[in-house]
Amino acid sequence: MKNNIRLSKSFLGTEEIKAITNVIKKDGYLGMGNEVYLFEKEIANYLGVPKEHVVCVNSGTAALHLAVQSISNPGDEVLVQSLTYLSSFQAISACNAIPIACEVNENTAGISLYDAEKRITKLTKRKHNDQHMRAAETNPPTHRHLSDKFSLGPKKRHA
Ligand SMILES: Cc1ncc(COP(=O)(O)O)c(C=O)c1O
Repeated sequence: MKNNIRLSKSFLGTEEIKAITNVIKKDGYLGMGNEVYLFEKEIANYLGVPKEHVVCVNSGTAALHLAVQSISNPGDEVLVQSLTYLSSFQAISACNAIPIACEVNENTAGISLYDAEKRITKLTKRKHNDQHMRAAETNPPTHRHLSDKFSLGPKKRHA
């Protein structure tokens, strides 16, 4: 198809294939093997947080679900950029929160903070982190500016 905008390209080289093959041969399965434990430990060390604060999940969708679950309450409105993957919206709906689609900043392909500001209501609790497709908005308002101005923050704290 012509004129499609490619958002990402996956890369799986010989090193990754070898690593996966070793895990299957050694542990017999991928999800709960020792490699996952070691990876969580490595991430915890890197972030300087206790090991129990790092949890690996099996997909980006599961990670989004967990992230939204940890900071939202049912009925919260969560601002999401429209140029994203479907699971950004699904994760919010799965937590009985309400996804509010926002326009995209044409310079950065991230959320338009000008549009986001217009959509903030009393029910708005969070801006959904607009993931890897975003770049910093070039002009004010900034994410911090909006969060501070409208007291957008998690009720539940998370690691
Ligand atoms: C931005 C974004 N979020 C979430 C996902 C979902 O990830 P997964 O397919 O691992 O559930 C994708 C998948 O491509 C994605 O591009």
